[in-house]
Formats: sequence, structure tokens, C-alpha cells
Amino acid sequence: MQTNFTQHYWHLRNHSEMKWNRTLILSVKLFHTSTVLHKIIPKSLKGKSKSSQDWLTRQLNDPYVKLAHQEQFRARSAFKLMEIDDRYKILQYGQVVVECGASPGAWTQVAVSRVNSLPNDKYKRQGLIIGIDLHTIHSLPGAIFLGGRDFTKQITQQQVLDILQGQKIDVVLSDMAPNASGTKKLDHENIISLAYAAFRFAVENSADDATFLCKIWAGFKDKDLVNDMKKFYGSVKTVKPPSSRSNSSEIFLLGRKFLGIKR
Ligand SMILES: C[S@@+](CC[C@H](N)C(=O)[O-])C[C@H]1O[C@@H](n2cnc3c(N)ncnc32)[C@H](O)[C@@H]1O
Repeated sequence: MQTNFTQHYWHLRNHSEMKWNRTLILSVKLFHTSTVLHKIIPKSLKGKSKSSQDWLTRQLNDPYVKLAHQEQFRARSAFKLMEIDDRYKILQYGQVVVECGASPGAWTQVAVSRVNSLPNDKYKRQGLIIGIDLHTIHSLPGAIFLGGRDFTKQITQQQVLDILQGQKIDVVLSDMAPNASGTKKLDHENIISLAYAAFRFAVENSADDATFLCKIWAGFKDKDLVNDMKKFYGSVKTVKPPSSRSNSSEIFLLGRKFLGIKR
């Protein structure tokens, strides 16, 4: 089942007109159903809190976790960016990408191949990816990582600009997330302020027509951010890719066609 699913997935991935691919979703659901029927229960749960037990059980039974492992992605989050990009085509060869909250590097793995920053194809335009995170990030050919840095700090953003040497950014990605406190409202406010830090940076440093994608946890401040994004992007959408767990408040805001800033 796993091998078929993987082959099937990559076949679909390469299909140029891939939308939210119903067949892919169906495959994951079928795969998921089969694992639910034979739900894997962790061997030792002794001494673990209820939330750790739930997390472990969920990880062991999540088809995207298995697939990420098989395809050697650093995390299942790779599929979220792939699915968004398959549908909206935000990553192109030769682009300059700044990725906020990049650790452990799964989105970066996707971006490296899609903007050709290694370059995998020396006949196509070569992209550039800079990934920033509070945590250290294991190196990845094709990406420049600034680990151990807080993106909200001016000094970190200046380091990114120093690397860019005046080049404008085509895509700003933010998958930044604070440590969840469990208090919904507080967590929402914290992730929104991270998203705003990435958004402001994108507005100040993006090329015309650029893209901004950020993750948030849905809540009362969504509308403000969406409205602010609409002032600077010709198109703003709320996106929930299939691999984003349906019981999670996680959503992505996608701004395309950056209009520039009038100074
Ligand atoms: C969901 S993870 C990112 C996963 C990543 N996109 C991937 O696919 O591997 C969220 C990350 O945001 C980072 N983060 C949170 N606040 C940050 C900040 N102020 N500056 C930089 N990174 C931050 C966290 O350290 C964490 O690694």
C-alpha cells in the first residue's frame, strides 16, 4: 500500500494541472482508513502525559508522517508547501525566497528543488533561498540558513538584507509558530504578531508581483491581517491544504501580485 501510494503521489505531483488533487486526497484517505482500521498503538506510554500519548499515537498513524519519512523529508510539513505550490504555482525557477521559521528544513527541501537553488538543472535559472529560525538548522545544499536567530529582530532582518545585496525578494514564506501555550487567544495573538513581522518585511523588500505566504492559527485577528494584506497584494486567499490536519486551527494566508509601496 505504501509503495503504491508513494508512486501514485509522485506521478500526480508531476502532473502540470494539479489542483487540490482529489485523487491524492482520496489516496491519503484510503491509506488513512487502512491505518485507522489497524490503528498503531505506541508500545510504551508509561509515564507520558495524555497530550504526549495523543501526539505519539497521531504521529504513528499519520500517513503524511510515514510518507515524509519514506521520501526523506525532514517533516510532514513539506506536503503543505507542495500542495499549496502545486495548486497556486508560487515557486518558480530562479526566484529569491526568504523563509521565516525554516527549521527543521522541510519547506526548504521543497523550495530548493522548485526554485532550482542547488541548482539541480544548470540550464535553468538558479534561485536563492535564505531560511531563518530560532533553532539551529542542519545544513542543506542549495539553502543559506541563519539558525539561532529571531526573525522579529531588526538585526536578523539586516543580516538577510546583507546576503541579498540589494536583490528584491520574489517569495516570502512564514511558517513561524510560537510554542503553543494551550490558551487559544494568546497563541492566536502570538502567531499573528509573527506573521505581521514577516508581512512587514515582505512589503519593504519584495519585488513587484511577489508572493507572501504565512501560517496562522485562526482567530479574531485574521480579518485585520487579511485586510492589511489586501492593501499590498492584488490577490489574497485563505488556504487550507489537504495535509493540514482538519482538526487544527492552522490556515495559510496567501498574498500574490505584490503591488509595491507608495512612499
Ligand atoms: C512549524 S515550524 C517550521 C517548520 C518548517 N517550515 C519546515 O517545514 O521544516 C515553526 C518554526 O518557527 C520557528 N520560529 C518561531 N518564532 C520564530 C522567530 N521569532 N524567529 C524565527 N523563527 C521562529 C520555530 O523555532 C519553529 O522551528
